[in-house]
Amino acid sequence: MRITMGVTGGVAAYKAAELVRLLQQDGFTVEVVMTRGAREFITPLTFAALTGQKVITDLFGNTENEANLESAIEHIAVAQRTDLLLVAPATADVIAKFARGIADDFLSTLYLASTAPVVVAPAMNVNMWNHPAMQENIAKLRERGVNVVQPNEGYLACGMVGAGRLAGHQEILAAVRETLHWNRDLTGETVLVTAGPTCEDLDPVRYLTNRSSGKMGYAVAQAAARRGAKVILVSGPTALETPPGIRRIDVRTAEQMHEAVTKEFAGCSIGIFAAAVADYRPARKHADKIKKSGGSLTVQLEPTVDILQEMARAKGDKFIAGFAAETADVEQNARKKLAAKNLDLLVANDVTAEGAGFDHDTNVVSLYFRDGRDMALPKMGKAEVAQRVLDEIVRLRGALRTKPAKRLSVV
Ligand code: CTP
Repeated sequence: MRITMGVTGGVAAYKAAELVRLLQQDGFTVEVVMTRGAREFITPLTFAALTGQKVITDLFGNTENEANLESAIEHIAVAQRTDLLLVAPATADVIAKFARGIADDFLSTLYLASTAPVVVAPAMNVNMWNHPAMQENIAKLRERGVNVVQPNEGYLACGMVGAGRLAGHQEILAAVRETLHWNRDLTGETVLVTAGPTCEDLDPVRYLTNRSSGKMGYAVAQAAARRGAKVILVSGPTALETPPGIRRIDVRTAEQMHEAVTKEFAGCSIGIFAAAVADYRPARKHADKIKKSGGSLTVQLEPTVDILQEMARAKGDKFIAGFAAETADVEQNARKKLAAKNLDLLVANDVTAEGAGFDHDTNVVSLYFRDGRDMALPKMGKAEVAQRVLDEIVRLRGALRTKPAKRLSVV
């Protein structure tokens, strides 16, 4: 989901940088629009670096060279691609412009051109906030459905104490989620997620593993929990913290993961298998450390159980999604895995692509569906990939539920 974040000119503008990061962690793609006033407090470069995108600062192009038709109609393009307009901090000036429909810079023009929901987080001096003109404007915006995040009381930059401090980041994030009715579309579902690598012991000090960080699976678990699902995360060894509200079961080996998943699977309605499970393990685990002998050493490997394949075999009406890490022929391999493993959805990525795969915070994936459709997603943060995958799962689960029941003919 795309958020356009307007930053206007107040001392609290520096807090907007942290807010951008938190929104990204929540899975949003953020594009920043700055007013002239905001640029007195913080530079566009900060936001460009954080978002990896051009920061829009002017209605008619950021520089004289850019003053062309493309930039003159950019507010329309931005208005069309945004899912939510957030203004934080919002000055008295921008609130007045929004309330009266004045469109004399990019942000105020975007407000008029966009039909997306709007969240405004004001920050200003307490007397300005309490002024009847301001309160009238705020009431007007609220009437129109704008979600105004109440400023906090406290010490203000002007030296006064009272209401006018920019609301806390978590309050602003909560307002964004609430405005998008984002949280609850997985309510009633129990989601089992596998994540991370497995470690297959060779002797007490050595093991076979892979480069999985677990970040993708954890992002899926976190996003599912935020959307109201009960989430069970079966995790191989990772350095990641358990996202809030999730039951995590730690395992080390493919065998332990198989055991844990088998136990939990019956109670789940959705399975998302993001773990990089070892396909082979040493056939023999040595009780003592293998000593150097001088010559070469051959280690015999034996296959592990394909957990995903086994669970999907008798999946009934559960929804099952797998992940595939490929280094070549992504589409061909993905379609083969989707069919062979009886999946509803396969999320495939070429782990050799720039910004994709192991240890990155971003990923570049394509989704392959049971009905033959596919969908290539651009490079995005893993949290956003997780949201997009869940969007599709919610859509497909909904479609399944509303399908008319097949008529049985009794002979
Ligand atoms: N998987 C699993 N158990 C295994 C191996 C894989 O549950 N023992 C799951 C992974 O969690 C992933 C999917 O199967 O969702 C595909 O994993 P991947 O390693 O890409 O495919 P493989 O089937 O192992 O095929 P290959 O390694 O030959 O590409």
